[in-house]
Amino acid sequence: MKSNMLEYTQQEVSQLPDDRLEEEWKHFMAFSTQRQRLREDVQRMMRKKSPQQRVKSEDIPEGGMTTTKAGTREILLARVDGKIYAMDNACGHSGYPLHEGTLDGYVVTCGWHDARFDVRSGAVLSPGRDFKPIKRFEVVDADDGTIKIGEEI
Ligand code: FES
Repeated sequence: MKSNMLEYTQQEVSQLPDDRLEEEWKHFMAFSTQRQRLREDVQRMMRKKSPQQRVKSEDIPEGGMTTTKAGTREILLARVDGKIYAMDNACGHSGYPLHEGTLDGYVVTCGWHDARFDVRSGAVLSPGRDFKPIKRFEVVDADDGTIKIGEEI
């Protein structure tokens, strides 16, 4: 057995007996799940370590996105129709940073597997994707002109 199925050529896979193919597939799925979990853990750790950013509302153009921090949480800030929305910057699918995706109106699309979310509600807009909505937060303009993240809404 190889460490994962990607090490087989197509021809080798086609020659595997059924029971061996099934065994290799189970092994590969377990490997993929472990790799995915590790990736998510690493992303989470990197976000916690990223520096605190001071963002002013004027720094976010209409239709633009950026990030800030609230404690150890990385927050996506998106401006639509003049209003700034704040939500977790981790895709509900596998945690990819949403600010690296695209914003079209109120819809942010993850840059990895194209899951879509409404920045107003955090709702999942992609049919057939049964993951949780993204947590949203109150946006507070602080006295020093920077954006502060308030309570979860
Ligand atoms: S991480 Fe898969 S859709 Fe965002």
